[in-house]
Amino acid sequence: MSSELSDKKLAVLGTGKLGGILLRAYLKQGLFVSGRVAATVRHPERAAALAKELKVAVTTDNREAVKGADIVLLTVKPQTVAEVLQEIAPEIGAQSLLVSVAASVPTSYLEQQLAAAGGRKHNEVAVVRAMPNTPAAVGCGMTAICRGTHANAGHLEIARSMFDAVGRTIVLDEKHMDAVTGLSASGPAFAYVILESLAEGGVKVGLPRDVATLLA
Ligand SMILES: NC(=O)c1ccc[n+]([C@@H]2O[C@H](COP(=O)([O-])OP(=O)(O)OC[C@H]3O[C@@H](n4cnc5c(N)ncnc54)[C@H](OP(=O)(O)O)[C@@H]3O)[C@@H](O)[C@H]2O)c1
Repeated sequence: MSSELSDKKLAVLGTGKLGGILLRAYLKQGLFVSGRVAATVRHPERAAALAKELKVAVTTDNREAVKGADIVLLTVKPQTVAEVLQEIAPEIGAQSLLVSVAASVPTSYLEQQLAAAGGRKHNEVAVVRAMPNTPAAVGCGMTAICRGTHANAGHLEIARSMFDAVGRTIVLDEKHMDAVTGLSASGPAFAYVILESLAEGGVKVGLPRDVATLLA
């Protein structure tokens, strides 16, 4: 699957913390090639800095970025999803795959927004929803993916490869995605609180903070 993906054109819309983690992993692993990647952010100065760092085309123009894209990875905040889908609907191909990581945004909503903004040709765009977690930053992520109405097994395999790049991936029915958000997506934050408390305990009994943190 990886070699097939390197032929595909990828647009990453909203290359912030999570989008950046994913894109850096793809480029490092050669999952996608830099010449066939376009990324976007909100602020022009961030676009310039990211383009310099990653050596890929980064702009603030979502519509331009999705032109000719086989895969659109949507990594904006949930409240920005509708605005971005309306922008890109005229350019996104009917054969494209849309992969969204937006928390709590159902595939039906993504499908409806695209269809409403793009007309008939978008009634069948394949959509995959994903819920990764922060350990993805160190390649130890756990991601659950589910498919929308028009996504098939091949689309799920593509999405699986995209999240296997930062850890492990499981395919689930969409009805479980809120439970996933509560468990594996939020779980690491609770583990950090425990680690922090252990380190704090170490400091209280006389250990230097850096030693206590390392031991915890
Ligand atoms: N962080 C996680 O561990 C995690 C885990 C699971 C799911 N998620 C989901 O991932 C998504 C992103 O989360 P995040 O933590 O990565 O947020 P983030 O760091 O704030 O990233 C959001 C990015 O979207 C960009 N942006 C805002 N408006 C835009 C627009 N109109 N067009 C293009 N780009 C735009 C921002 O640009 P600027 O940089 O210029 O401001 C920023 O780079 C959310 O939907 C969240 O639910 C995150």
